Amino acid sequence: MENRGPEGGSAHRRGRTYPMPKRSPSKRISRRYDRLAFFYDFMEAPIEKSRFASWRKRLTDRITGDRVLEAGVGTGKNLPYYPSGVHVTAIDFSAKMLNRARKVAADLRQEVDLLEMDVQFLAFPDNSFDTVFATFVFCSVPDPVRGLRELRRVCRPGGRLILLEHMRPENPFPGILFDFINPMVVRMMGANINRRTMDNIHKAGWKVQLMENLSSDIVRWIEGTHN
Ligand SMILES: C[S@@+](CC[C@H](N)C(=O)[O-])C[C@H]1O[C@@H](n2cnc3c(N)ncnc32)[C@H](O)[C@@H]1O
Repeated sequence: MENRGPEGGSAHRRGRTYPMPKRSPSKRISRRYDRLAFFYDFMEAPIEKSRFASWRKRLTDRITGDRVLEAGVGTGKNLPYYPSGVHVTAIDFSAKMLNRARKVAADLRQEVDLLEMDVQFLAFPDNSFDTVFATFVFCSVPDPVRGLRELRRVCRPGGRLILLEHMRPENPFPGILFDFINPMVVRMMGANINRRTMDNIHKAGWKVQLMENLSSDIVRWIEGTHN
């Protein structure tokens, strides 16, 4: 049976794009990920194997409903873990990261709608998805509250937000240290290490229903519903 996404599309190689203004903060960050795309999986391989893979499995097991949006799919590391029978629409604003995800989807023979799109400006109607999902993304979205609001808009009432995010530690000493080295990390990787992501989730109107610290209070699994 052919799976159809919220826009009625189905092919994982469809490659639809939604262009960004050339000088926008999004363009700057997406270029950094374009630059990293070739090395990304290699760079993360040790931690992927020791920690991330098991976290991905735990989070994707929590997906409910059959219409799922993954924001910031990157090189497609979550794709192997999706439960069967769900239709996945996955977006990323880096064309090169997305190309790698396309290859993963093709190797897995998985039908995924992979679209070049900014989570801050989603091209989907309201209430299009049952679950909205992202892993390690809101550290680099230029306006994270806007992106989280967009996810809320496209998630149906009663639907679920599932996130795996790293954020600023609450303890003041490491917190200040993270603030200090953050500009360097942003320049190199495009990611902020001092985001107050829990506050951002609340500001975007999500009601947090589950929060588990996976690695001290820096990496957290968060679930929310419409407030
Ligand atoms: C650190 S990587 C994580 C990739 C993947 N989710 C994973 O767990 O391996 C962050 C990804 O989010 C994407 N991203 C960041 N901001 C975005 C935005 N505003 N819209 C769409 N994608 C975004 C980046 O291009 C990158 O691929």
